[in-house]
Amino acid sequence: MNCRTMVHLSQKMRILKIRRKHLKYCLLAGVLCLVLTKLCKDFFKHNKVYLHMQKDDRQKQDDTNTSYVYVPPQTVCQQNKSAANIPNFSSFSGPMQDFLYYRHCRHFPMLLDVPDKCGGASQSAEVFLLLVIKSSPVNYDRREVLRKTWAEEREQNGVWIRRLFISGTMESGEEKQRLNKILELEHREHNDILQWDFSDTFYNLTLKQILFLEWMERNCPNVRFLLNGDDDVFANTDNMVQYLQNLKYNDGSRHLFTGQLNVRMVPVRSWSKYFLPVEVHEADVFLPYCSGGGFLLSGYTAMVIYNMSQSITLLPIDDAYMGMCLSKAGLEPSNHVGVRAAGLDISSNNMDRHDPCVHKELLLVHKFPTSHLYLLWNRIHDPKLKCFVSTKL
Ligand SMILES: *[C@@H]1O[C@H](CO)[C@@H](O)[C@H](O)[C@H]1NC(C)=O
Ligand SMILES: *[C@@H]1O[C@H](CO)[C@@H](O)[C@H](O)[C@H]1NC(C)=O
Ligand SMILES: *[C@@H]1O[C@H](CO)[C@@H](O)[C@H](O)[C@H]1NC(C)=O
Ligand SMILES: *[C@@H]1O[C@H](CO)[C@@H](O)[C@H](O)[C@H]1NC(C)=O
Ligand SMILES: *[C@@H]1O[C@H](CO)[C@@H](O)[C@H](O)[C@H]1NC(C)=O
Repeated sequence: MNCRTMVHLSQKMRILKIRRKHLKYCLLAGVLCLVLTKLCKDFFKHNKVYLHMQKDDRQKQDDTNTSYVYVPPQTVCQQNKSAANIPNFSSFSGPMQDFLYYRHCRHFPMLLDVPDKCGGASQSAEVFLLLVIKSSPVNYDRREVLRKTWAEEREQNGVWIRRLFISGTMESGEEKQRLNKILELEHREHNDILQWDFSDTFYNLTLKQILFLEWMERNCPNVRFLLNGDDDVFANTDNMVQYLQNLKYNDGSRHLFTGQLNVRMVPVRSWSKYFLPVEVHEADVFLPYCSGGGFLLSGYTAMVIYNMSQSITLLPIDDAYMGMCLSKAGLEPSNHVGVRAAGLDISSNNMDRHDPCVHKELLLVHKFPTSHLYLLWNRIHDPKLKCFVSTKL
């Protein structure tokens, strides 16, 4: 053994010693890690059930059982793994599977709120027409045009119109934050956005409706009437106020639910946007409902729907779900000829999509390009506009 190898060996041993020391630390950390994981697992197991409880129940539990820890409602709703046991589950689309996994989740934290939109719950009867417009975060342009046209907050014919956009979130990570920031900026300027932290997808529209109704019960329970609709409709809110003011015996405290009525609609059982597998909704026909593009309802009926929804499983088709809630309360939706939620059938009626006179007498028309809407709203308010033909609604 020469000097060189001895030096080499001693170096090797030093490294080994250091490694042994490290090993001790590693083992210690490992044990700590295991203990922590076990603790965390137990914690969540205990709290899983707990998360779904109402606040009052939670309080009661806390009195008798100190092993529960208060978990704020902001905690994420857990996936229902047994949804995967539904027959034919694996053949459903990704979004439908997603819907089924999260179907039971009804509470999400609010990101943007306007609690005083109606001047407080007790003052809310002073709002005659509340416009509740479903809008996803990306639709910035639509919201801007609506604020300047039919959804402008104003006193109309002696009564107040107020506006709210209802929204979820889109995308994830930085892109989600970027879109949220846009809404936040708009909100700061206009004070008209309710946003909850759930994915704003087609199948989650029912959830959006329920979240809004829950909010309404808290903040605007006595609003007279509501227009509930999409952000791509042309709503003649002047005409709506007039129609609602002319209702006999109804100041919003009685039943009203009107729009484009769909009766005996059959669930789509083949592949489409509206595909509804029999395993998700068994009935062969939907109960009567109004197209979700836009319908008018009284504050009373909105609260009845909210009450009924508590005991009806969510359906991925939001307007048909409203029909189920009405039916459960023994109420019926009605048809209003002025609501063309499926768009105007121009060919059959000799109607011109750009003719302001046609739209002057309607209540609502679906699927409008924003620029067209801007022009039309201004044209029907032109004092020089003369309409010779009446569509007689
Ligand atoms: C407290 O909670 C634990 C965990 O779920 C349960 O096993 C126990 O029975 C509860 N005790 C009381 C007094 O409710
Ligand atoms: C989970 O999904 C299964 C299958 O659809 C259903 O029977 C069960 O009630 C669901 N559980 C919850 C908590 O919603
Ligand atoms: C599963 O889907 C097939 C068609 O894809 C259908 O024939 C069958 O009845 C479905 N099974 C159940 C249990 O619904
Ligand atoms: C609905 O939103 C929840 C919460 O963001 C999400 O987990 C779920 O996947 C969404 N459902 C659909 C069908 O997009
Ligand atoms: C809804 O339910 C609540 C609580 O049960 C009740 O006080 C309220 O009167 C109900 N509202 C309507 C409109 O049925």
